[in-house]
Amino acid sequence: MDFSERVFCGRLNAEAAGKSVLLAGWVDALRDHGGLLFAHLRDRSGIVQVVFNPETADAEVCRLANSLRAEYCVSVRGKVCRRLEGTENPHIETGQIEVMVTELTVLAESEALPFAISEKAMLAGAEAAAADNVSEDLRLQYRYLDIRRPSMRDNLIARHRIFHCVRQFLDERGFLEIETPALTASTPEGARDYLVPSRVHPGNFYALPQSPQLFKQLLMIGGMERYFQLARCFRDEDLRPNRQPEFTQLDLEASFIDEGFIYGLIEELVARIFAVGGIELPRPFPRMTYNEAMDATGSDKPDLRFGMRFVDVTDVFKTTKYSIFRQILQRGGCIKGINVKGQSERLSKNVLQNEYAKEIVPSFGAKGMTWMRAAGGGLESNIVQFFSEAEQAGLRERFGVADGDVLLLIADPSYEVVTSALGQLRLHVAERLGLIPENSFAPVWVTEFPLFEATAEGGVTSKHHPFTAPDRSDFDPENIEDLLSLRSRAYDLVMNGEELGGGSIRISDRTLQRKIFKALGLSERDTQERFGFFLRAFDFGAPPHGGLALGMDRTVSMILRTPSIREVIAFPKNRSAGCPLTGAPSQVKREQLAELGLLNLGGAESLAGDGRQENIVDRVSWVSRIGFKDDERQGLAQVLRQAEGLAADVERVAGDEAPVRTVAPVVNRTRPGEVAKRCPLAEDGELLKSAPSVKGNLFKVASVL
Ligand code: AMO
Repeated sequence: MDFSERVFCGRLNAEAAGKSVLLAGWVDALRDHGGLLFAHLRDRSGIVQVVFNPETADAEVCRLANSLRAEYCVSVRGKVCRRLEGTENPHIETGQIEVMVTELTVLAESEALPFAISEKAMLAGAEAAAADNVSEDLRLQYRYLDIRRPSMRDNLIARHRIFHCVRQFLDERGFLEIETPALTASTPEGARDYLVPSRVHPGNFYALPQSPQLFKQLLMIGGMERYFQLARCFRDEDLRPNRQPEFTQLDLEASFIDEGFIYGLIEELVARIFAVGGIELPRPFPRMTYNEAMDATGSDKPDLRFGMRFVDVTDVFKTTKYSIFRQILQRGGCIKGINVKGQSERLSKNVLQNEYAKEIVPSFGAKGMTWMRAAGGGLESNIVQFFSEAEQAGLRERFGVADGDVLLLIADPSYEVVTSALGQLRLHVAERLGLIPENSFAPVWVTEFPLFEATAEGGVTSKHHPFTAPDRSDFDPENIEDLLSLRSRAYDLVMNGEELGGGSIRISDRTLQRKIFKALGLSERDTQERFGFFLRAFDFGAPPHGGLALGMDRTVSMILRTPSIREVIAFPKNRSAGCPLTGAPSQVKREQLAELGLLNLGGAESLAGDGRQENIVDRVSWVSRIGFKDDERQGLAQVLRQAEGLAADVERVAGDEAPVRTVAPVVNRTRPGEVAKRCPLAEDGELLKSAPSVKGNLFKVASVL
């Protein structure tokens, strides 16, 4: 079929009235109007109504049209006509016109759908179908159908536009798009690696990159000066709604620059890509140091769309007689609070005491919460009588209290407990009371992070990664206190409480880089083994450099305001890191494992069919898809040997009798007593069409033992 004249459904408008057009796409919806058949025809560009009218189409076309079902792939030729007044459809962009069909070709039929694809109602005022209540795993299993839904299609189109904008913007600024390897050595970003076994080097593994960090720095040493890549990264880490095991970063790096260059570049870029989604970001992006962010919001990802910044009132209570506060302060603790302005009507004494103080705040890790409601020019609560006049006045003044406000205070000997619990409380209250303005965007740069964090084992670990430059180089790599006092030249771009990106100015001095590895507890030998190639590059004139990576799935999801990043990825993994469409991850043949030299590593003894005795536990594990631990294997082997003996006995007794096929009789379990009827679909094989293996009208299940 010749499609060269094809025009796009969504591009038709009243200007095309009178023209004959060729369209191709999928049947979105059908409405039979007694002889007249209306169909919505959908292609990537949109939807147009096509009409099969016995007065304008011949009998064969009308007959064929009557066989159409949702999602048949068809092409039609017809004449564009303005719709009669009053029959226009405001739900679709081409709602002013329709196409009177003269020719119809069914290009491919479609089976009944697992869920509705159509999202546009055919009639003014009618409800459109929604796929919201379809299970996500079903959507992912049939992702190719899910992508036909206009909302998913629009997400992917918008993602493309945003990526295109990124490429254009960076090209204009002299950045080169350069690919780095996916089969590589481990890049430390704090997650576990996905490993890929090498066939050529049995027992050796590639790691999929957690980020292109090492390579982009090598590109700077290689003199590329400005690099970027829309890079796929792989991290085996605990899944959260905004995390995927494989995701896309806009990764970039530049030489002979400082922090100011990155702030300016990324602010301009981010403002541009948000504008692709029609969002104007407030500029310039404010900056907050890590300490300021923790002090004011208890988080290094501060959500600045709303107020309720922390107020420190430790000094208000320095001579307090209220014993709980006094003891906490004697132990070097602090007291911080938030003012929930004008919300006392919505936060009753009962809710504050029984829900927040007793349940919610303890679940955030603090022992309790002190609350006060402002009314009649004073403060009310169950403990306010223990506070002196001066303390109450101090609170009122510090929080700028007015009647109707609610003060929530957390006190604890540990600063971390206070900030963490109050930070969670701040978000909880804002969400519960709807205090976060809709469609608002609050970007912020968080800077001056600690370079290291303490580990439970008494050492340190990098807060970002080990290539981040510290604020000074005169530290002692063996003095933990000194190490924990270091700040880094790292910066995170945070928006609405979510980390969209992060980066740093890097270490470009080889002695300093070695010192950092030493501080991290890596011996000279470990360092050489893991990063020898990288350190070697620093022996050849490394330029000062720095960069950043922006999580593109998170950024696109935020621009499009989707509930999860999976909505902006064509084929994402589900919540348990699996792909319901392909079944990945899946087991592989033992032959493949043997070829990769992996059977020896795992201790499995032999290969199926290689003539030697196969390990029966391995066999059962393989067939049942159940992994057994070492201590379970012994017991299981015993049970299996007994089962084998039993089977041999049965065989002896049965002699030459043919094995019996067991088929359960058909019984009506829903309405006991009524005769069971076989579903007619069972007769023609339709019912078992999707079963993995069918014989007659029975389907096979795997025999396990
Ligand atoms: P970082 O580890 O902070 O930095 O990653 C940068 C950004 O990538 C996004 N991101 C993720 N998105 C989806 N799923 C995940 N599992 C996931 N993990 C991270 C986040 C994050 O801000 N090499 C450094 C960058 C640099 O220093 O230049 C790095 O990868 O939005």
